[in-house]
Amino acid sequence: MLDSLVIGSPKRKKNSQSGWTDFFPYYAGFPEDFAKNILQSSGLPSSAVIFDPWNGSGTTTYAAAQLGYASCGIDLNPVMVLVARARSLARTEADSIAPQAKSLTKDVSRLAIKIRENDPLLQWFDVETGNVIRAIESRIRSRLVGTDAADLRAQFDKISCFAATFYVALFTICRRLTAPYRSSNPTWLKTPKGDEAKLTISAKDICSAFVAQATCMADALQKSSFLIDPARVKIAVGNTTEFKVSGLADLILTSPPYCTRIDYTAATRVELALISTLLTENRDDLSRQMIGSIKVPDKIIEPSIFWGETCLKFLDRLRSHDSKASKGYYYKTHLDYFEKMSRSIYNMRASMKRNAIAIMVVQDSYYKDLHNDVPTILGEMAENIGFKMRRREDFIQGNSFLGINSRSRIYRDTSRAVESVICFEK
Ligand SMILES: C[S@@+](CC[C@H](N)C(=O)[O-])C[C@H]1O[C@@H](n2cnc3c(N)ncnc32)[C@H](O)[C@@H]1O
Repeated sequence: MLDSLVIGSPKRKKNSQSGWTDFFPYYAGFPEDFAKNILQSSGLPSSAVIFDPWNGSGTTTYAAAQLGYASCGIDLNPVMVLVARARSLARTEADSIAPQAKSLTKDVSRLAIKIRENDPLLQWFDVETGNVIRAIESRIRSRLVGTDAADLRAQFDKISCFAATFYVALFTICRRLTAPYRSSNPTWLKTPKGDEAKLTISAKDICSAFVAQATCMADALQKSSFLIDPARVKIAVGNTTEFKVSGLADLILTSPPYCTRIDYTAATRVELALISTLLTENRDDLSRQMIGSIKVPDKIIEPSIFWGETCLKFLDRLRSHDSKASKGYYYKTHLDYFEKMSRSIYNMRASMKRNAIAIMVVQDSYYKDLHNDVPTILGEMAENIGFKMRRREDFIQGNSFLGINSRSRIYRDTSRAVESVICFEK
Protein backbone atom coordinates (compact mmCIF):
# COMPACT_ATOMS: atom_id res chain seq x y z
CA MET A 1 0.00 0.00 0.00
CA LEU A 2 2.83 2.39 0.85
CA ASP A 3 4.27 2.34 -2.67
CA SER A 4 1.03 3.49 -4.23
CA LEU A 5 0.37 6.34 -1.77
CA VAL A 6 0.06 9.70 -3.52
CA ILE A 7 2.41 11.98 -1.59
CA GLY A 8 2.34 15.63 -2.70
CA SER A 9 4.15 18.58 -1.14
CA PRO A 10 3.24 18.99 2.53
CA LYS A 11 3.98 22.71 2.51
CA ARG A 12 0.95 24.96 2.89
CA LYS A 13 0.80 27.37 -0.03
CA LYS A 14 -0.16 30.93 0.81
CA ASN A 15 -3.84 31.64 0.08
CA SER A 16 -4.36 28.15 -1.27
CA GLN A 17 -7.35 27.49 0.91
CA SER A 18 -10.84 28.77 0.51
CA GLY A 19 -14.24 28.69 2.08
CA TRP A 20 -14.81 26.94 5.40
CA THR A 21 -11.14 26.03 5.88
CA ASP A 22 -10.15 29.72 5.67
CA PHE A 23 -11.47 30.23 9.17
CA PHE A 24 -8.86 27.95 10.70
CA PRO A 25 -5.49 29.25 9.52
CA TYR A 26 -2.56 27.63 11.31
CA TYR A 27 1.00 28.45 10.45
CA ALA A 28 2.09 24.92 11.34
CA GLY A 29 -0.48 22.94 9.37
CA PHE A 30 -0.17 20.87 6.20
CA PRO A 31 -2.63 21.35 3.31
CA GLU A 32 -5.96 19.55 3.20
CA ASP A 33 -5.27 18.21 -0.31
CA PHE A 34 -2.02 16.68 0.84
CA ALA A 35 -3.92 14.73 3.54
CA LYS A 36 -6.79 13.79 1.23
CA ASN A 37 -4.51 12.46 -1.50
CA ILE A 38 -2.74 10.21 0.98
CA LEU A 39 -5.96 8.91 2.53
CA GLN A 40 -7.68 8.40 -0.82
CA SER A 41 -4.75 6.49 -2.24
CA SER A 42 -4.39 4.35 0.91
CA GLY A 43 -7.14 2.00 -0.26
CA LEU A 44 -8.32 1.56 3.32
CA PRO A 45 -11.94 0.48 3.85
CA SER A 46 -14.37 3.02 5.35
CA SER A 47 -14.27 1.10 8.63
CA ALA A 48 -10.64 2.18 9.10
CA VAL A 49 -9.67 4.53 11.91
CA ILE A 50 -7.39 7.45 11.05
CA PHE A 51 -5.47 9.04 13.91
CA ASP A 52 -3.40 12.20 14.33
CA PRO A 53 -1.57 12.45 17.67
CA TRP A 54 -0.43 16.04 16.91
CA ASN A 55 -3.67 17.12 15.33
CA GLY A 56 -3.19 20.93 15.44
CA SER A 57 -5.91 22.62 13.40
CA GLY A 58 -7.32 19.19 12.55
CA THR A 59 -6.36 18.81 8.89
CA THR A 60 -6.08 15.02 9.21
CA THR A 61 -9.32 14.55 11.13
CA TYR A 62 -11.18 16.90 8.75
CA ALA A 63 -9.84 15.22 5.60
CA ALA A 64 -10.58 11.75 7.02
CA ALA A 65 -14.10 12.77 8.02
CA GLN A 66 -14.79 14.14 4.53
CA LEU A 67 -13.80 10.78 3.07
CA GLY A 68 -16.09 8.92 5.47
CA TYR A 69 -13.43 7.46 7.79
CA ALA A 70 -13.70 7.38 11.56
CA SER A 71 -11.06 9.76 12.84
CA CYS A 72 -9.38 10.68 16.11
CA GLY A 73 -7.06 13.50 16.96
CA ILE A 74 -5.34 14.76 20.05
CA ASP A 75 -3.38 17.90 20.74
CA LEU A 76 -1.93 19.32 23.91
CA ASN A 77 -3.11 22.82 23.09
CA PRO A 78 -6.82 23.13 24.01
CA VAL A 79 -7.18 26.05 21.60
CA MET A 80 -6.24 23.78 18.70
CA VAL A 81 -8.65 21.13 19.98
CA LEU A 82 -11.52 23.61 19.73
CA VAL A 83 -10.37 24.73 16.29
CA ALA A 84 -10.27 21.12 15.07
CA ARG A 85 -13.68 20.38 16.58
CA ALA A 86 -15.25 23.44 14.95
CA ARG A 87 -13.78 22.37 11.64
CA SER A 88 -15.70 19.09 11.90
CA LEU A 89 -19.10 20.76 12.27
CA ALA A 90 -21.81 19.18 10.11
CA ARG A 91 -23.19 21.31 7.27
CA THR A 92 -26.70 20.65 8.56
CA GLU A 93 -25.92 22.97 11.51
CA ALA A 94 -25.06 25.95 9.30
CA ASP A 95 -28.53 27.55 9.49
CA SER A 96 -28.43 27.69 13.29
CA ILE A 97 -25.12 29.56 13.56
CA ALA A 98 -26.15 33.18 12.83
CA PRO A 99 -29.35 33.13 14.99
CA GLN A 100 -27.34 31.59 17.84
CA ALA A 101 -24.62 34.27 17.53
CA LYS A 102 -27.29 37.01 17.71
CA SER A 103 -28.82 35.42 20.76
CA LEU A 104 -25.42 35.06 22.46
CA THR A 105 -24.74 38.78 22.08
CA LYS A 106 -28.24 40.10 22.86
CA ASP A 107 -28.10 42.75 25.62
CA VAL A 108 -24.66 41.51 26.52
CA SER A 109 -23.57 44.86 27.92
CA ARG A 110 -26.44 44.72 30.41
CA LEU A 111 -25.15 41.46 31.87
CA ALA A 112 -23.64 42.07 35.26
CA ILE A 113 -20.51 40.07 34.40
CA LYS A 114 -17.46 41.67 35.96
CA ILE A 115 -14.16 40.37 34.73
CA ARG A 116 -11.81 39.07 37.44
CA GLU A 117 -8.87 41.31 38.29
CA ASN A 118 -6.39 38.61 37.29
CA ASP A 119 -8.23 37.61 34.10
CA PRO A 120 -5.50 37.12 31.46
CA LEU A 121 -7.63 38.97 28.87
CA LEU A 122 -6.77 42.17 30.77
CA GLN A 123 -3.23 41.89 29.41
CA TRP A 124 -4.53 43.42 26.16
CA PHE A 125 -8.00 44.82 26.88
CA ASP A 126 -9.22 47.46 29.31
CA VAL A 127 -11.78 46.43 31.93
CA GLU A 128 -14.89 47.57 30.02
CA THR A 129 -13.81 45.73 26.86
CA GLY A 130 -12.75 42.70 28.90
CA ASN A 131 -16.20 42.62 30.56
CA VAL A 132 -17.91 42.36 27.17
CA ILE A 133 -15.61 39.67 25.76
CA ARG A 134 -15.86 37.64 28.98
CA ALA A 135 -19.66 38.06 28.98
CA ILE A 136 -19.95 36.58 25.48
CA GLU A 137 -17.58 33.75 26.41
CA SER A 138 -19.50 32.97 29.60
CA ARG A 139 -22.76 32.87 27.62
CA ILE A 140 -21.25 30.36 25.18
CA ARG A 141 -20.15 28.32 28.19
CA SER A 142 -23.42 28.40 30.10
CA ARG A 143 -25.77 28.04 27.14
CA LEU A 144 -23.89 25.73 24.80
CA VAL A 145 -21.54 23.76 27.03
CA GLY A 146 -23.32 23.64 30.38
CA THR A 147 -21.92 24.02 33.86
CA ASP A 148 -23.09 20.68 35.24
CA ALA A 149 -19.91 18.67 34.48
CA ALA A 150 -17.99 17.05 37.36
CA ASP A 151 -14.85 19.11 36.72
CA LEU A 152 -13.22 21.44 34.22
CA ARG A 153 -11.77 18.58 32.18
CA ALA A 154 -15.20 16.96 31.85
CA GLN A 155 -16.67 20.32 30.91
CA PHE A 156 -14.05 20.81 28.19
CA ASP A 157 -14.80 17.34 26.80
CA LYS A 158 -18.46 18.34 26.49
CA ILE A 159 -17.74 21.20 24.08
CA SER A 160 -19.47 20.14 20.88
CA CYS A 161 -18.42 21.04 17.34
CA PHE A 162 -21.28 23.57 17.36
CA ALA A 163 -20.18 25.25 20.63
CA ALA A 164 -16.55 25.17 19.45
CA THR A 165 -17.59 27.15 16.37
CA PHE A 166 -18.55 30.13 18.59
CA TYR A 167 -15.30 29.89 20.48
CA VAL A 168 -13.48 30.02 17.15
CA ALA A 169 -15.55 33.05 16.08
CA LEU A 170 -14.53 34.77 19.32
CA PHE A 171 -10.89 33.67 18.85
CA THR A 172 -10.94 35.38 15.46
CA ILE A 173 -12.33 38.61 16.91
CA CYS A 174 -9.72 38.68 19.71
CA ARG A 175 -6.97 37.87 17.22
CA ARG A 176 -8.10 40.69 14.93
CA LEU A 177 -8.38 43.18 17.80
CA THR A 178 -4.91 42.34 19.10
CA ALA A 179 -3.37 42.60 15.60
CA PRO A 180 -1.50 45.81 16.57
CA TYR A 181 0.49 43.70 19.04
CA ARG A 182 1.54 41.09 16.50
CA SER A 183 4.78 41.04 14.54
CA SER A 184 5.84 39.16 11.42
CA ASN A 185 6.57 36.17 13.66
CA PRO A 186 3.27 34.23 13.73
CA THR A 187 4.12 32.81 17.13
CA TRP A 188 4.54 36.08 18.93
CA LEU A 189 2.03 38.44 20.50
CA LYS A 190 3.24 41.36 22.58
CA THR A 191 1.38 42.82 25.53
CA PRO A 192 0.86 46.56 25.82
CA LYS A 193 2.93 48.46 28.34
CA GLY A 194 0.72 50.26 30.84
CA ASP A 195 -3.03 50.67 31.12
CA GLU A 196 -3.33 53.53 28.62
CA ALA A 197 -2.07 51.32 25.81
CA LYS A 198 -4.75 48.67 26.43
CA LEU A 199 -7.42 48.20 23.82
CA THR A 200 -10.81 49.88 24.21
CA ILE A 201 -13.58 48.66 21.91
CA SER A 202 -17.29 49.35 22.37
CA ALA A 203 -19.69 46.54 23.22
CA LYS A 204 -21.63 47.33 20.04
CA ASP A 205 -18.55 46.90 17.85
CA ILE A 206 -17.50 43.65 19.51
CA CYS A 207 -20.99 42.14 19.26
CA SER A 208 -21.50 43.12 15.64
CA ALA A 209 -18.04 41.80 14.69
CA PHE A 210 -18.86 38.50 16.42
CA VAL A 211 -22.21 38.13 14.65
CA ALA A 212 -20.64 39.07 11.30
CA GLN A 213 -17.87 36.52 11.80
CA ALA A 214 -20.30 33.76 12.77
CA THR A 215 -22.49 34.60 9.76
CA CYS A 216 -19.50 34.40 7.40
CA MET A 217 -18.61 31.02 8.88
CA ALA A 218 -22.19 29.79 8.45
CA ASP A 219 -22.20 30.87 4.77
CA ALA A 220 -18.93 29.10 4.10
CA LEU A 221 -20.09 25.93 5.85
CA GLN A 222 -23.32 26.01 3.85
CA LYS A 223 -21.26 26.07 0.62
CA SER A 224 -18.89 23.28 1.64
CA SER A 225 -19.40 20.24 -0.50
CA PHE A 226 -18.89 17.48 2.06
CA LEU A 227 -21.26 15.94 4.54
CA ILE A 228 -19.42 15.15 7.72
CA ASP A 229 -20.74 12.93 10.47
CA PRO A 230 -19.34 14.56 13.66
CA ALA A 231 -20.18 11.41 15.62
CA ARG A 232 -17.30 9.69 13.77
CA VAL A 233 -14.77 12.39 14.70
CA LYS A 234 -13.19 12.37 18.17
CA ILE A 235 -10.91 15.23 19.09
CA ALA A 236 -9.54 15.64 22.59
CA VAL A 237 -6.80 17.25 24.61
CA GLY A 238 -3.96 14.77 24.98
CA ASN A 239 -0.23 14.64 25.59
CA THR A 240 1.70 12.24 23.34
CA THR A 241 4.44 11.80 25.93
CA GLU A 242 1.89 10.29 28.31
CA PHE A 243 -1.07 8.89 26.43
CA LYS A 244 -1.61 5.15 26.64
CA VAL A 245 -3.94 3.80 23.98
CA SER A 246 -3.43 0.53 22.20
CA GLY A 247 -4.62 -0.92 18.92
CA LEU A 248 -6.66 2.10 17.85
CA ALA A 249 -5.39 3.26 14.47
CA ASP A 250 -5.21 1.74 10.99
CA LEU A 251 -3.35 4.76 9.71
CA ILE A 252 -1.60 7.68 11.38
CA LEU A 253 -1.08 10.86 9.40
CA THR A 254 0.65 13.54 11.41
CA SER A 255 3.30 16.21 11.72
CA PRO A 256 5.17 16.30 15.01
CA PRO A 257 6.11 19.62 16.60
CA TYR A 258 9.06 21.38 14.98
CA CYS A 259 12.46 21.59 16.61
CA THR A 260 12.86 25.28 15.87
CA ARG A 261 12.63 26.89 19.32
CA ILE A 262 9.07 27.95 18.73
CA ASP A 263 6.66 28.11 21.60
CA TYR A 264 3.39 26.67 20.28
CA THR A 265 1.43 28.24 23.13
CA ALA A 266 2.74 31.73 22.33
CA ALA A 267 0.96 31.64 18.97
CA THR A 268 -2.34 31.19 20.78
CA ARG A 269 -1.80 33.43 23.80
CA VAL A 270 -4.94 35.48 23.41
CA GLU A 271 -7.08 32.41 22.65
CA LEU A 272 -5.70 30.66 25.75
CA ALA A 273 -6.56 33.77 27.77
CA LEU A 274 -10.10 33.63 26.42
CA ILE A 275 -10.63 30.01 27.44
CA SER A 276 -8.73 30.28 30.74
CA THR A 277 -12.12 29.76 32.45
CA LEU A 278 -12.17 26.23 31.01
CA LEU A 279 -8.63 25.19 31.80
CA THR A 280 -6.93 23.54 34.73
CA GLU A 281 -3.45 24.59 33.68
CA ASN A 282 -1.96 27.99 32.99
CA ARG A 283 -0.01 28.84 29.87
CA ASP A 284 3.36 28.40 31.56
CA ASP A 285 2.61 24.80 32.59
CA LEU A 286 1.25 24.03 29.16
CA SER A 287 4.26 25.56 27.47
CA ARG A 288 6.61 23.42 29.59
CA GLN A 289 4.84 20.20 28.54
CA MET A 290 4.92 21.06 24.81
CA ILE A 291 7.35 19.21 22.63
CA GLY A 292 9.71 21.88 21.33
CA SER A 293 9.25 23.92 24.50
CA ILE A 294 11.59 26.86 24.86
CA LYS A 295 11.69 26.37 28.63
CA VAL A 296 14.60 24.56 30.26
CA PRO A 297 13.34 21.16 31.46
CA ASP A 298 12.96 20.84 35.22
CA LYS A 299 14.66 17.41 35.31
CA ILE A 300 18.05 16.17 34.19
CA ILE A 301 17.89 14.41 30.84
CA GLU A 302 20.65 12.13 29.56
CA PRO A 303 20.91 11.20 25.89
CA SER A 304 19.82 7.64 25.15
CA ILE A 305 21.29 5.21 22.59
CA PHE A 306 17.71 4.58 21.47
CA TRP A 307 17.66 8.06 19.95
CA GLY A 308 20.07 6.86 17.26
CA GLU A 309 23.47 7.79 15.90
CA THR A 310 22.48 10.94 14.00
CA CYS A 311 20.80 12.41 17.07
CA LEU A 312 23.69 11.65 19.39
CA LYS A 313 26.24 13.10 16.94
CA PHE A 314 24.17 16.24 16.56
CA LEU A 315 23.86 16.66 20.35
CA ASP A 316 27.63 16.24 20.76
CA ARG A 317 28.33 18.91 18.17
CA LEU A 318 25.74 21.19 19.72
CA ARG A 319 27.24 20.85 23.19
CA SER A 320 30.71 21.69 21.94
CA HIS A 321 29.58 24.59 19.73
CA ASP A 322 31.45 27.77 20.65
CA SER A 323 28.45 30.08 20.55
CA LYS A 324 27.02 31.41 23.79
CA ALA A 325 24.54 29.22 25.71
CA SER A 326 25.04 26.23 23.39
CA LYS A 327 26.20 23.85 26.10
CA GLY A 328 23.66 25.21 28.59
CA TYR A 329 20.24 26.38 27.49
CA TYR A 330 20.24 25.07 23.91
CA TYR A 331 21.69 21.67 24.76
CA LYS A 332 19.07 21.18 27.48
CA THR A 333 16.11 22.27 25.38
CA HIS A 334 17.22 20.00 22.52
CA LEU A 335 17.55 17.08 24.95
CA ASP A 336 14.02 17.85 26.09
CA TYR A 337 12.77 17.76 22.48
CA PHE A 338 14.38 14.42 21.63
CA GLU A 339 13.39 12.79 24.92
CA LYS A 340 9.75 13.82 24.48
CA MET A 341 9.76 12.74 20.83
CA SER A 342 11.21 9.35 21.69
CA ARG A 343 8.52 8.69 24.30
CA SER A 344 5.83 9.95 21.93
CA ILE A 345 6.90 7.73 19.02
CA TYR A 346 6.81 4.76 21.40
CA ASN A 347 3.26 5.66 22.49
CA MET A 348 2.27 6.34 18.90
CA ARG A 349 3.38 2.85 17.84
CA ALA A 350 1.37 1.29 20.68
CA SER A 351 -1.73 3.17 19.48
CA MET A 352 -1.58 1.41 16.08
CA LYS A 353 -3.16 -1.86 15.00
CA ARG A 354 -0.91 -4.64 13.71
CA ASN A 355 0.59 -3.79 10.30
CA ALA A 356 -0.91 -0.29 10.46
CA ILE A 357 1.07 2.53 8.87
CA ALA A 358 2.25 5.87 10.15
CA ILE A 359 3.06 8.83 7.92
CA MET A 360 4.91 11.73 9.49
CA VAL A 361 5.71 15.09 7.97
CA VAL A 362 8.95 16.29 9.49
CA GLN A 363 10.95 19.43 8.89
CA ASP A 364 14.69 19.74 9.32
CA SER A 365 16.25 22.79 10.90
CA TYR A 366 19.54 24.41 11.77
CA TYR A 367 21.07 25.26 15.09
CA LYS A 368 23.44 28.06 14.08
CA ASP A 369 25.58 26.32 11.42
CA LEU A 370 24.72 22.77 12.59
CA HIS A 371 22.26 20.82 10.52
CA ASN A 372 19.57 19.30 12.72
CA ASP A 373 18.39 16.50 10.46
CA VAL A 374 15.15 15.85 12.34
CA PRO A 375 13.64 13.59 9.63
CA THR A 376 16.63 11.22 9.79
CA ILE A 377 16.73 11.42 13.58
CA LEU A 378 13.04 10.62 14.01
CA GLY A 379 13.38 7.86 11.40
CA GLU A 380 16.19 6.24 13.39
CA MET A 381 14.28 6.67 16.64
CA ALA A 382 11.23 5.01 15.13
CA GLU A 383 13.30 2.09 13.81
CA ASN A 384 14.93 1.63 17.21
CA ILE A 385 11.47 1.40 18.73
CA GLY A 386 10.44 -1.32 16.26
CA PHE A 387 8.95 0.52 13.27
CA LYS A 388 9.98 -0.49 9.75
CA MET A 389 10.73 2.54 7.59
CA ARG A 390 9.21 1.94 4.12
CA ARG A 391 9.36 5.19 2.20
CA ARG A 392 10.70 8.74 2.43
CA GLU A 393 10.04 11.71 0.16
CA ASP A 394 11.89 15.01 0.62
CA PHE A 395 10.56 18.41 -0.42
CA ILE A 396 12.76 21.50 -0.47
CA GLN A 397 10.91 24.46 0.90
CA GLY A 398 11.35 28.22 0.95
CA ASN A 399 9.69 30.33 3.61
CA SER A 400 10.63 28.20 6.59
CA PHE A 401 10.82 29.37 10.17
CA LEU A 402 14.39 30.37 9.58
CA GLY A 403 13.07 33.41 7.80
CA ILE A 404 11.38 34.48 11.01
CA ASN A 405 14.44 34.52 13.18
CA SER A 406 16.65 36.80 11.15
CA ARG A 407 19.70 36.25 13.38
CA SER A 408 19.89 32.60 12.41
CA ARG A 409 20.39 33.70 8.79
CA ILE A 410 23.93 34.62 9.68
CA TYR A 411 24.61 30.93 10.10
CA ARG A 412 22.61 29.44 7.28
CA ASP A 413 23.24 30.26 3.65
CA THR A 414 19.75 29.31 2.59
CA SER A 415 16.33 29.65 4.13
CA ARG A 416 15.10 26.54 2.36
CA ALA A 417 14.17 23.90 4.89
CA VAL A 418 13.66 20.30 3.83
CA GLU A 419 10.30 18.86 4.67
CA SER A 420 10.22 15.09 4.58
CA VAL A 421 7.32 12.71 4.48
CA ILE A 422 8.38 9.48 6.17
CA CYS A 423 6.28 6.34 6.11
CA PHE A 424 6.53 3.47 8.58
CA GLU A 425 4.88 0.16 9.11
CA LYS A 426 4.25 -1.20 12.59
C1 LIG B 1 3.22 20.81 13.44
S1 LIG B 1 1.82 21.02 14.46
C2 LIG B 1 0.58 19.97 13.75
C3 LIG B 1 -0.19 20.67 12.65
C4 LIG B 1 -1.31 19.86 12.01
N1 LIG B 1 -0.77 18.79 11.17
C5 LIG B 1 -2.22 20.74 11.16
O1 LIG B 1 -2.43 20.49 9.97
O2 LIG B 1 -2.72 21.76 11.70
C6 LIG B 1 2.27 20.19 15.92
C7 LIG B 1 1.22 20.22 17.03
O3 LIG B 1 1.70 19.44 18.12
C8 LIG B 1 1.14 19.96 19.31
N2 LIG B 1 1.91 19.45 20.47
C9 LIG B 1 3.08 19.87 20.98
N3 LIG B 1 3.46 19.09 22.01
C10 LIG B 1 2.52 18.13 22.15
C11 LIG B 1 2.36 17.01 23.02
N4 LIG B 1 3.25 16.73 23.98
N5 LIG B 1 1.26 16.22 22.87
C12 LIG B 1 0.33 16.50 21.91
N6 LIG B 1 0.43 17.55 21.07
C13 LIG B 1 1.51 18.36 21.17
C14 LIG B 1 1.17 21.47 19.11
O4 LIG B 1 0.19 22.09 19.92
C15 LIG B 1 0.89 21.59 17.61
O5 LIG B 1 -0.48 21.88 17.38
